[in-house]
Amino acid sequence: ENDVLLLAIESSCDETAASVVKNGRTVLSNVISSQIELHKLYGGVVPEIASRKHIEKINQVVKEALDTAGVTLDDLSAIGVTYGPGLVGALLVGVAEAKAIAYAKKLPLVGVHHIEGHICANYIENPDLEPPFLCLVVSGGHTHLVRVKDYGAYEILGRTRDDAAGEAFDKVARAIGLGYPGGPKIEKLAKEGDPHAIPFPRAKIEDCAYDFSFSGLKSAVLNYMNGCKMKGEAVNEADIAASFQQAVIDVLVRNAMQAVEDYQADTLAIAGGVASNGTLREAVQKACREKGVRFCHPSPILCTDNAAMIGTAAYYEYQKGVRHGWDLNAVPNLKL
Ligand code: KG4
Ligand code: ZN
Repeated sequence: ENDVLLLAIESSCDETAASVVKNGRTVLSNVISSQIELHKLYGGVVPEIASRKHIEKINQVVKEALDTAGVTLDDLSAIGVTYGPGLVGALLVGVAEAKAIAYAKKLPLVGVHHIEGHICANYIENPDLEPPFLCLVVSGGHTHLVRVKDYGAYEILGRTRDDAAGEAFDKVARAIGLGYPGGPKIEKLAKEGDPHAIPFPRAKIEDCAYDFSFSGLKSAVLNYMNGCKMKGEAVNEADIAASFQQAVIDVLVRNAMQAVEDYQADTLAIAGGVASNGTLREAVQKACREKGVRFCHPSPILCTDNAAMIGTAAYYEYQKGVRHGWDLNAVPNLKL
C-alpha cells in the first residue's frame, strides 16, 4: 500500500479550497467555496473581507474535501498548501490551517507556489503529459510564458510588464458596466460582437518577444468609449468586448507560438482563470494544429483557483523531498 494521499489547501485570493489527491494525478475531491458573490458588491476582491471569509470557511471546506474523498486525516501522507503569491492575509489562513493539521497529525508540510499549481492542473486530465513543455499561464494576477523543464523546474520566458490578462478583462468589463469578475462576462458579450470592428492595439515589447503589455490596450478601450460619448455616438458594447478579447488573444497566441518555434516545443499547455475562455482555447488549438504541436488545457473548473492543482504540484515537490518547517510563512510576492 504505497499510495501517496495529499490534502491540499488553497486560499490565495477569493476561493477557499481543499482537495484530496492520490498519487499526484487522481483527484478524490475538489471543494471550492467561492466568495465572488460577496466581492461583486465592491467591484473586485477586498483583501480584508477575503481573509475573514477564509477563516469562516476553511474548516468546513477541509472537512468536506476529506468526507467526499472518503478519507480521514489518519490516511494522509502529507499536507500541501499555497504559500504565495497572493493576498497575504488570505494566504495566511491556508498556511495556518495546513500547519495546524500537519503539526497535530505529525505529517510532512509542503508549501506550493500558486502558479506552479495552475501549471500542474494540466497533469490531472492529461495522464500522459510530462515535462518538458511550454505553458501559457493567464490569470487575474499573472501572465507568464513558462518553460516547464522538469517537475518543479521552471524558466519564465516572458511575463506581463503591467496588467495581467485577466486584470485587463476585469477592468474593461467594469468600464462597460458588466461587473466582476469580468472575464466570463466579456466572453459572453463578445459572442454577439464583431472581433474585427475596432482595431485595438496589439502591444509588442521591443527587447523581449515573449513579454506582454495590456495596459495600453485597456486605455485604448477606455479612450474609444470616451470618444464615442464625446461625439454623441452610440457605444456598441458587444463590438468592444469582441474586439478587445481578440486583441488579447492575438497577443497571447503570437508570443506563445513564437516561444514554441524558438524552443522547438512539441507541447503547449495553458493554465489560469483566463484559460477557461473558449475563444482563446480555440485560437491556441488552431495555432497548435497548424504547427503540429500538442495542445493541453485543464477543464474550466481546474483553470480557476482550486486546491486539486495545488495537490498535484505538492505531490511532485513531495516526491522531490521538499519539506517545509513550522516557520513556513505566507509570501505575497513569491517568485517561481
Ligand atoms: O486563476 P484565477 O481564478 O485567479 C488568479 O489566480 O488570478 O483567474 C481569475 C481571472 C479573473 O481575472 C477572471 O476575469 C478571469 O480569470 N477569467 C476569464 C474567464 N474566466 C475567468 N477571463 C476571460 N475569459 C473567461 N472565460
Ligand atoms: Zn490563480
